[in-house]
Amino acid sequence: MSKLRVVIANVCRLLLALTFILSGYVKAIDPLGTQYKITDYLAAIDLAAMVPQWTTLSAAVALAAIEFALGVFLLFAIKRQFTSRLTLAFMAVMTLITVWIYIADPVKDCGCFGDAFTLTNGETLLKNILLVLCAAVVAWRPSDMVRLISSSNQWLVMNYAVVYIIGTSLWCLYTLPTFDFRPYHIGVNIKQDMTVPEGAPQTEYETTFIMKKNGVTKEFTADNYPDSTWQFVDARTVVTKQGYEPPIHDFIIDSATTGEDITDSILSRPGYTFLLVAPSLARADDSNFGDIDQIYEYAQEHGAAFYCLTASTDKNIARWRDITGAEYPFCLSDETTLKTIIRSNPGLLLLKKGTIIGKWSHNLLPQTDELNAPLHQLSIGQMPQQSSTSSRILKVMLTFLLPLFLLSLADRLWAWSKWVRSKQKENNIFQIFKSKKKMRKKIVAGNWKMNLNLQDGVALAKEINEALVAEKPNCDVVICTPFIHLASVAQVLDSTVVGLGAENCADKEKGAYTGEVSAEMVKSTGAQYVILGHSERRQYYGETAEILKEKVDLALAHGLKVIFCCGETLEEREAEKQNEVVKAELAGSVFHLDAEAWKNIIIAYEPIWAIGTGKTATSDQAEEMLAYIRSIVAEKYGQEAAEDTSILYGGSCKASNAPELFSKPNIDGGLIGGASLKCADFKGIIDAWKK
Ligand code: PGA
Repeated sequence: MSKLRVVIANVCRLLLALTFILSGYVKAIDPLGTQYKITDYLAAIDLAAMVPQWTTLSAAVALAAIEFALGVFLLFAIKRQFTSRLTLAFMAVMTLITVWIYIADPVKDCGCFGDAFTLTNGETLLKNILLVLCAAVVAWRPSDMVRLISSSNQWLVMNYAVVYIIGTSLWCLYTLPTFDFRPYHIGVNIKQDMTVPEGAPQTEYETTFIMKKNGVTKEFTADNYPDSTWQFVDARTVVTKQGYEPPIHDFIIDSATTGEDITDSILSRPGYTFLLVAPSLARADDSNFGDIDQIYEYAQEHGAAFYCLTASTDKNIARWRDITGAEYPFCLSDETTLKTIIRSNPGLLLLKKGTIIGKWSHNLLPQTDELNAPLHQLSIGQMPQQSSTSSRILKVMLTFLLPLFLLSLADRLWAWSKWVRSKQKENNIFQIFKSKKKMRKKIVAGNWKMNLNLQDGVALAKEINEALVAEKPNCDVVICTPFIHLASVAQVLDSTVVGLGAENCADKEKGAYTGEVSAEMVKSTGAQYVILGHSERRQYYGETAEILKEKVDLALAHGLKVIFCCGETLEEREAEKQNEVVKAELAGSVFHLDAEAWKNIIIAYEPIWAIGTGKTATSDQAEEMLAYIRSIVAEKYGQEAAEDTSILYGGSCKASNAPELFSKPNIDGGLIGGASLKCADFKGIIDAWKK
């Protein structure tokens, strides 16, 4: 069941990811088109005039970036909780908008996929209902999304995706859309695409006439049109059957001086024709007028025609002439058509016998040094060799993925070189200060005890892992879990950041010991540590010093590090026997080890009266005992080994008292019970090493 759930969640996530990437990308490559669409929506609610152009353009870039980035985050399963919730919120808003456009029909095409694919309002609604359901599935259990990239590399993908898509938008604004999905792309013969082929189905209409006679209003059609005693009130015409509509059906050019329709003469012209397309001269960018004038001069010299197509008023045409010194003829055309032809104001088109063979943004116009011969001898005068759509898509994917791959590689190399450098440094310091104190490990270890079921435990481990991967701790962190959690938790931990341990292991190597778990079994789960000698095991399960000695030996023999607990009861402390008790516990179970084995021992001093009682030993009490333990370790193994031994304090340690405890020179961290069961509490203690 849970496997099926994971499969469903990942199918939903992929569907969302690919849709978002596609819709974000096609919007990003055509920011002006997206801006026009946003303006259409604003016009539908009478707000278009109130919102400045730069706002709608920024919104277009932002919308594309959000969609694309969300798609990439979903694809790579980055910041799963945040991403899935944002996706759900985004889809909920979009679905509400599509419900509105389905009912009120304010725009004909939702614009979800720019001009790449157009969906009817009904299709868009269905698509969004499906996607919102997918988003809900993913947001329900975000951790079901399988990661495609390690969490330490996520920041790279996040930043890169955002920079890439905003960069793409800006580049396409400066030049032209990378893919031209509109009817006026290179290779199109405008005249041909305006022609309705013979025999193509015609659009059929039906008109209803509303007529009145003697105060009675009635509706008629052309077939039963009444006599003249009826008075005409109104008429309604609806399309009953959509006929063939040619790809280009709204392209008319009128001369600005004579008003004459010159569409056909321009499109049928045998040679080359430059069309400078400027939907609005009032808003056109005039910074490259020098280049335009030079192209006009070149056209005149080489017998090419040159027209400026605009939807501007005479006043604005005159103003443009004044500013730029333009001498070329102006023609009038529909503004929407001109905006569709080229996403640049102004932009330049080159036609050869009515076929579009070149398109340039005003920022990248052909330069005079390129225009050094008649057009038929130049490469810009030839139909460009267009690579196939699939190879262009592949190229775009490579431009996104290749740098990403190289960045990830660089990141890993950098991390590796940092590690090598730090090792070298450690060695150097060790060489120089061989006789001096070596920095022993600071450790915060959690002891979950018998508290969490498998699912809750795995979820907590994931949360801790994510928090620590995102913000590296200043100490070693270990979580010690019940046996049943070990194997699953090992899967979710980044072992370079969080270690894993058991809370116990058997005192026997293997065999018929029903219910026991051996050190070897613990090790086989991927765990690296085991807690032994905890007072709760000594007290409730009768673990004696001898039994613990066996367990310690077996744990070490199987390559586990031992967190060995010791500590006195309240009565023993009141009788001032704490040192004696602790020394006996250590002597009884770990002081038999040789110096080499000792390196894998971590001591945890846990006064029994402080465990789970909320009563912490004062930092001075803890420091005093830990200094004592270090001194007896020194007696047994020498000063250097004692300086290298990590000794922890345990017993009601929490984020509020950890900084004070950890500030003591002999306290190397904590063994944490209750406060290790919540990520925030545990992290608070770990962060005490940052203070
Ligand atoms: P506590 O437990 O932090 O809940 O007091 C510590 C321990 O028993 O290891």
